Formats: sequence, structure tokens, C-alpha cells
Amino acid sequence: AAPAAVIVAIDGPSGTGKSSTSKAVAAQLGLSYLDTGAQYRAITWWMVNNGIDIADPAAIAAAAEKPDIVSGTDPSGPTITVDGTDVAAPIRTQEVTSKVSAVSAVPEVRSRITELQRSIARGAEVGIVVEGRDIGTTVLPDADLKIFLTASPEARAARRSGELKGADVNATREALIKRDAADSGRKTSPLAKAGDAVEVDTTELTLQQVIECVVTLVEEKRAAA
Ligand code: DC
Repeated sequence: AAPAAVIVAIDGPSGTGKSSTSKAVAAQLGLSYLDTGAQYRAITWWMVNNGIDIADPAAIAAAAEKPDIVSGTDPSGPTITVDGTDVAAPIRTQEVTSKVSAVSAVPEVRSRITELQRSIARGAEVGIVVEGRDIGTTVLPDADLKIFLTASPEARAARRSGELKGADVNATREALIKRDAADSGRKTSPLAKAGDAVEVDTTELTLQQVIECVVTLVEEKRAAA
């Protein structure tokens, strides 16, 4: 018989290899893939483009329902559009990165994006890997498998500045620590490890080792089901 649809939640701070791991695991196992950080970045991009004052949570809340955000969930080519415009590149700019924590802390933004995420996960007939910060705790508390990726701040900063090609490691480390503190400290569904999540410290592991570890955990879950 075909294996039942499996829902995998992968949470953790930035620079732990969450996106690379989630995409590779989904591709290897034939599952869909959802990058929830991209959705928060997309709504932030829209706010910036539409002149919404990022320092004004009421203004952000009032606009939260306006942009139409669509995520393509093929792990070999995930896509993200806002009102039909491809925003895959502009959501990765320094400007969006520095503003996304403030926008994603607004409860109206979270409830709106959370609903979107749940409906995508429900619709994934083959199963899905969903990566973010609050997937195991809030978005999909009934996920079949929850993974929480961690790594030392030094390892995370080194990986991020590698990705950003030539970025200063110390500046990257400071920005990353600041964003994690904001994401962990907010009132509404902060970055947190679910009680039933498996924690994987990736500091001393290669990406390939992390992928193998998660694939094995998913296969064990499927075998036990
Ligand atoms: O994974 P990322 O760095 O692209 O995420 C960008 C921001 O979005 C992150 O700093 C916090 C927010 N985010 C969130 O609040 N909840 C999620 N499930 C995913 C991301």
C-alpha cells in the first residue's frame, strides 16, 4: 500500500540548515515542502512596498488581510508570489530581513498566515515538510514528526555569512542573535521547541548528515504507523 501522507514540522532559529534540510528531505521522500519564513517575508515585503509604517503594529494589523500570498510547494522549485508577482528574490533583501520580525510579531499577521499554512498542509495529499519557528507548537500541533534544529551561534553566523557571500561574520552574528531574540521573545507563538519534538544539534554535523538523520526519523515514523 502507498504510505499514508506524513506531516513533518521542522522548527529552529536561522542558520541551523532548516531550509536546506527541509527541501532535501521532502525531495528524497516525495513530499511537498512549505517555507513559512518566506510567507512572513512576503507579507513584510508587501507592507514595505505599500508604505505601511513598520513601527506601527495597528497599521500592520489593519493591512494584514490585503496581500494575496501564494506558495508553490514543489521542493525542487518552491515559489512565492504576492498578488501574482514573483517575490522570491526581493524577500531576501537586507531591508526585508531587518523588518520581518516586527511584522511577524503582530497577532493579526500570525493568525492570517497560520490559516494559510494549515490549509496548504491539509491539501498536501502526499504529505508535507513544513519549516518555520512555531510549526510544531502552534501551526500543526498534531504533526506526525516534529524536529527542532539547533546550532551554536558561531556555526549559524558562519553558515549565514557563507550564504550571503562575503558578508562580515561578526555583523551577521549580531543581526542573527537580535532576530532570534525578537522571534523567541514575542508574545504570540514565539520560536520554541515543542515538548514532543526531537532536538538535533547540527553544530558538528554536515548538511548531508542532518538530512540523513531526519530522513531516518521520518521513515521510522512511517514504519511504526
Ligand atoms: O526562516 P526565515 O529566516 O526566512 O524567517 C524569516 C522570519 O519570519 C523570522 O525571523 C521570523 C519569522 N517567522 C515566524 O515568525 N514564524 C515562522 N513560522 C517562520 C518565520
